[in-house]
Amino acid sequence: MNTPVEGFSKLSKAEKIDWIANQCTKDPVATKKLLERYWNPDPQVQKLHDEFIENTLSNYYLPFAVAPNFLINGEFYAIPMAIEESSVVAAASKAAKFWLDKGGFKTTILGTEKVGQVHFIYKGDAKKLRVFFNEIKPGLLESVASITQNMEKRGGGINAIELRDRSDKISGYYQLHCTFETLDAMGANFINSCLEQFAKTLKDQAKGHLDFSEEEKNIEVVMSILSNYVPNCLVRAEVECPVDKLVIKDISAEEFAQKFVQAVNIANVEPYRAVTHNKGIMNGIDAVVLATGNDFRAVEAGVHAYASKNGNYSSLTHATIEDGIFKFWIEIPLALGTVGGLTSLHPLVKLALEILQNPSAKELMQIVAVAGLAQNFAAVKSLVTTGIQKGHMKMHLLNMLNQMGATESEKAQLVHYFKHETVTNASVKEALEKLQKS
Ligand code: MEV
Repeated sequence: MNTPVEGFSKLSKAEKIDWIANQCTKDPVATKKLLERYWNPDPQVQKLHDEFIENTLSNYYLPFAVAPNFLINGEFYAIPMAIEESSVVAAASKAAKFWLDKGGFKTTILGTEKVGQVHFIYKGDAKKLRVFFNEIKPGLLESVASITQNMEKRGGGINAIELRDRSDKISGYYQLHCTFETLDAMGANFINSCLEQFAKTLKDQAKGHLDFSEEEKNIEVVMSILSNYVPNCLVRAEVECPVDKLVIKDISAEEFAQKFVQAVNIANVEPYRAVTHNKGIMNGIDAVVLATGNDFRAVEAGVHAYASKNGNYSSLTHATIEDGIFKFWIEIPLALGTVGGLTSLHPLVKLALEILQNPSAKELMQIVAVAGLAQNFAAVKSLVTTGIQKGHMKMHLLNMLNQMGATESEKAQLVHYFKHETVTNASVKEALEKLQKS
């Protein structure tokens, strides 16, 4: 393919598929068949998915699973997860079971504040700008009354608007730094609508402000947008138990606890390890965030920024042993919604939320944080004991067998065989060949 296409988005779905199949693939007939095979048989459901984004050709499946037996603040949850990585759900389920008879997980909401900013350039006297800002602040709030009305009725709205001088970084750069309470909504649309109106009001008011010079009247709004950095939209999840309750195969409870804490400490001080450590946490977090129709890119961006809040990228989890008690916890910023967005549109998202007993955004924050902590517990537990490959390769076995074209009966026999054998690509290939020759 070496020609651009004009007006692609205006083509019908069939025309788009034709174009892609013919221009970009070796076997257009097979391509079309494949894309159609992944359509939903119910045209209404397919239409819904087609309309989520532009230029939809088909659906892209991920497994939708649940990790049961999570005891969180005394309540049981089966946590829905959408993820492709073979060991994640198994690891989460194992961690849930491990903590079940030790009191389960405890969680606390530490804050629910969302953030948005109007970034603007003002060339002039900073003191005059501050006086102007204090004067127009009530007007700024009034100008968004029609947007905030419903949110306020439910107890949310705008918490604060601040003028921030960032002209030390960029000449003339200031911000309206705004904080919001968006209740059960993730709030992106609400926040962005408020910010765009603030920007308009700011600019209009500056034009008529008598104390400003002509240059000062001409505020240049660069952009108005929410921030995915939400260090005050924070949740804590924790587990704890006496060290001697950490009964693990082939290692004493004391040694396990020590090694576990050491591993977490390493992730605290060593960025190469911290990134992988946190990636393991995000295996659990993203899977629930995705299953519940939330924006995992927003969560990822905010979480990693939070992991660097002290100037060094470090672990999101922490562990201690004090007076014979092992404690393990996470504090993580999560801006999530359980209303709006995909939550009432995508049938599987609706189901995921129903499985979680239709949580509020605060409850979902707690469940997601627990999924991250559990995932990290399972990963670090494997790392400091058997190593990660044992469990990982066992879970990956089916993928390998599928790739090697094993039949259902061969798969069943080999899954049984590898219960007590080491799984590697070579050992699986050899065992399959041996079975096929027998
Ligand atoms: C793999 O997806 C995640 C791990 O690497 C996390 C970790 O190392 O802690 C196992």
